[in-house]
Amino acid sequence: MSWLPVAASDMAARVDLLFYSMLALTGLTSLAIFVVMAVFAIRYRAGSAADRSNPPPRKTWLELGWIFTPLAIFLGVFVWGAVVYAGFYAPGEASTVFVVGKQWMWKVEHANGRREIDELHLARGEPVRLVLSTEDAIHSFYVPAFRIKQDAVPGRYTSIRFTPTREGEYWLHCAEYCGTDHARMGGKVVVMAPAEFAAWLSNGNENASLAAQGFELFRRKGCSGCHVNSTVHAPDLAGIFGRTIHLADGRTVVADEAYLRDSILLPKRDVVAGYQPIMPSFQGQLDEAELSALVTYLKESR
Ligand code: CUA
Repeated sequence: MSWLPVAASDMAARVDLLFYSMLALTGLTSLAIFVVMAVFAIRYRAGSAADRSNPPPRKTWLELGWIFTPLAIFLGVFVWGAVVYAGFYAPGEASTVFVVGKQWMWKVEHANGRREIDELHLARGEPVRLVLSTEDAIHSFYVPAFRIKQDAVPGRYTSIRFTPTREGEYWLHCAEYCGTDHARMGGKVVVMAPAEFAAWLSNGNENASLAAQGFELFRRKGCSGCHVNSTVHAPDLAGIFGRTIHLADGRTVVADEAYLRDSILLPKRDVVAGYQPIMPSFQGQLDEAELSALVTYLKESR
């Protein structure tokens, strides 16, 4: 139906099914309640000749039935919604695209180093995970056709995962009030056929890949001085991504992008078991683009 919003991602179909089911369920429930209310209000209005003798006896099974049947149905909807929501954050194979919000634009960086502003190109049918950050206020990356909306929060990475399923151009908005030009902050998402996307990605790209930029930073900022074959007692970082890390305070964390970012900027927070908290913070010395390069390098180092 053409008046319904376009559904252009795998998650859009799941969100729509949930949304329309809830609309139907709550609509029918409200309708049933209002019809019964109207019927009783008219039939038993003051002065009506309705038969009021022999009121029916109390039926426990009926009362339990109308309490627990709707409860089960609506708790079922809650579980369904939770499963759909978790789908946006489920782990799994996906290419990573870094998206940085900034008053008032979206800056996008692909793994091969290709950059874009207020545009995001994606391949149809290929799962993608956006890793979001911001250089100033809170922004929210909102693509209605994909049914995705994810905040970019200062000082941390957030991420969201989906697969575009339909070629075309779709609106991108900022959905969190972030200052004067908030309403203008946005652009478009372009979904292309995989071969076309591959051509677009390499066309005219003169930047080094994120991993190569990260490797260069890893040496220039001095990370390699401690983390590669040195006498200083620092963990070796090869193959760290996705590993379960045991921390000095007994917690365990999985080394994802957010963990790597925090370890660079807040090294005293999650100290690895068996090591001293001697690493200096790199807060203020790396911008978001440099962080995404370093994190990508660490992800790909084996
Ligand atoms: Cu960025 Cu609103």
